Amino acid sequence: MIELRDLTKRYGDFTAVNEVSLKVDEGTLLVLLGGSGSGKTTTLKMINRLIEPTSGSILFDGQDVLKMPAHEVRRRIGYAFQKIGLFPHMTIAENVGVTPRLLGWEAGRIRRRVDELLETVELDPKEVRDRRPSELSGGQQQRVGVARALAAEPKVMLLDEPFGALDPLTRDRIQQFFLRIRKETGLTAIFVTHDMVEALILGDQIAVMNRGDLVQVGTPRQLLTKPADDYVESLMATPRQQADFVEELLAQEPTGKSTGKSGGKAGSKSGGKSRGKSRGKSRGKSS
Ligand SMILES: Nc1ncnc2c1ncn2[C@@H]1O[C@H](COP(=O)(O)OP(=O)(O)OP(=O)(O)O)[C@@H](O)[C@H]1O
Ligand SMILES: [Mg+2]
Repeated sequence: MIELRDLTKRYGDFTAVNEVSLKVDEGTLLVLLGGSGSGKTTTLKMINRLIEPTSGSILFDGQDVLKMPAHEVRRRIGYAFQKIGLFPHMTIAENVGVTPRLLGWEAGRIRRRVDELLETVELDPKEVRDRRPSELSGGQQQRVGVARALAAEPKVMLLDEPFGALDPLTRDRIQQFFLRIRKETGLTAIFVTHDMVEALILGDQIAVMNRGDLVQVGTPRQLLTKPADDYVESLMATPRQQADFVEELLAQEPTGKSTGKSGGKAGSKSGGKSRGKSRGKSRGKSS
């Protein structure tokens, strides 16, 4: 469905994305993981022609993306990028309906679709449809961005940390809704996240980037059991370390915890935390 071949982006002497090759099969969700500056956003933006590659190629359904008109690519691939915001002068309804309008849907159908999508991302259409983006919170704007990306029922989506600004409970519900949509529509997607748990929940495949290089691609299980290097291993260890830390907190004496919280015995609180951290670190190193 989407294939990258030796995709490279250089800025002068600096290589932001270095000969990345990977395939995303139809119906697959590939999570792109990696540290800040590793080239994730650059890779996504090259796929929908927001950044021109220095070399390499991109195939979409066997067609060369670099030979397709950029507007055609963006119409066929839904995208939600955190920094490419909503159109500030349009209302929320106009923002969500932008691609269906370009595709020539009739007004009633657009209106129904917009309301349905706003409801799915847990926004009340009556309340928000006529507001401007600046009249919504950051997390609400992000949800409008996801609704906009889904509007014309794309078969392929690129999502760059789409749920990053959401509180944990809303995030959990929207993740579940996204999993349902994927099942119902057989959506193919590339999804950038920094959240390891989100990567494990949503990803059929996980691709790890480090400083422009693609380090490993595999199922979550493959990455957990056979990490290609220390970097992948330490990334995959983080959810377990956090879970261990929470368990350790729960296992502490209730009296110890309350004295720590009240600030009476600061030593006991910081002692607990450093124990958790050092344990996590020694685990990562020894394994
Ligand atoms: N226009 C540019 N000129 C020079 N360097 C750039 C340019 N755009 C991006 N870069 C560099 O390319 C590298 C990759 O950037 P990119 O935005 O793809 O990272 P990322 O993996 O998405 O990081 P984050 O997780 O922080 O969003 C970074 O080191 C960045 O500084
Ligand atoms: Mg980025």
